[in-house]
Amino acid sequence: MEVVILQGSKQIGQLVADAIEALLRRKPTAVLGLATGSSPLPVYDELAARHQRDGLDFSNAHAFALDEYVGLDHGHPESYREVIRREFTSRVNIAEGNVHTPDGAAADLPAACSAYEEAMRAAGGVDLQLLGVGTDGHIGFNEPGSSLASRTRIKTLIEQTRRDNARFFGSLAEVPHHVVTQGLGTILEARHVVLIATGAQKAPAVRDFVEGPVAAICPASVLQFHPHATILVDEAAASSLKLADFYRHTYDHKPAWQGL
Ligand code: F6R
Repeated sequence: MEVVILQGSKQIGQLVADAIEALLRRKPTAVLGLATGSSPLPVYDELAARHQRDGLDFSNAHAFALDEYVGLDHGHPESYREVIRREFTSRVNIAEGNVHTPDGAAADLPAACSAYEEAMRAAGGVDLQLLGVGTDGHIGFNEPGSSLASRTRIKTLIEQTRRDNARFFGSLAEVPHHVVTQGLGTILEARHVVLIATGAQKAPAVRDFVEGPVAAICPASVLQFHPHATILVDEAAASSLKLADFYRHTYDHKPAWQGL
């Protein structure tokens, strides 16, 4: 696990965009794993700017979202299918048919979950998976207690996550209770995992999953098993890390050729 502590979201957005740009130049057919929520927005803004300004090309890329609410209509503005389209994919030249989200409106949800896993496999697997982390340590919508080997499936949100996400809806009552999410086992198969956490409210979760034990009570801790996981945090989210000075020293002396 590499922990990179940066000043703020803008610097994080640029560094992650550098990694995605390098990936697309090396592999134009790259498969991107997309997250919703606030954490990846600076990355999407930076990628959209590079597409507009420098012609960064997404025309042969593919994208798979991490998760989706159950029970929202396809066109609902807070469905992750719409959020991903609005915040990112409609701002670059990725083909609409290459962008996938789990189908939270499917009549047969288990079959839709299996089909999603199959579509990811058929696309060759995820090259770079963007992640945020919940205040309870969830990644995707794998809440505490999720199996560390889980695959795409239906999950129930804990109340804290519903409260955290109520800011996107008119009221708490409108936040669905159920979601479909890639499992922790699914996420671990991505070739490179890039997690972004900003703000003091994320500091306890960051401390627990980076420096605590690997345990289902803190789902993001499973990333300690990933051979290429990059954790990007601002100063506030890093404020409870015991080894913060060591992470800073390591990153400051990292050979430039290594990239993220
Ligand atoms: C979103 C997702 C969630 C969020 C997490 C953090 O697709 O899978 O795990 O990444 O809830 O959300 P923000 O970034 O809004 O703090």
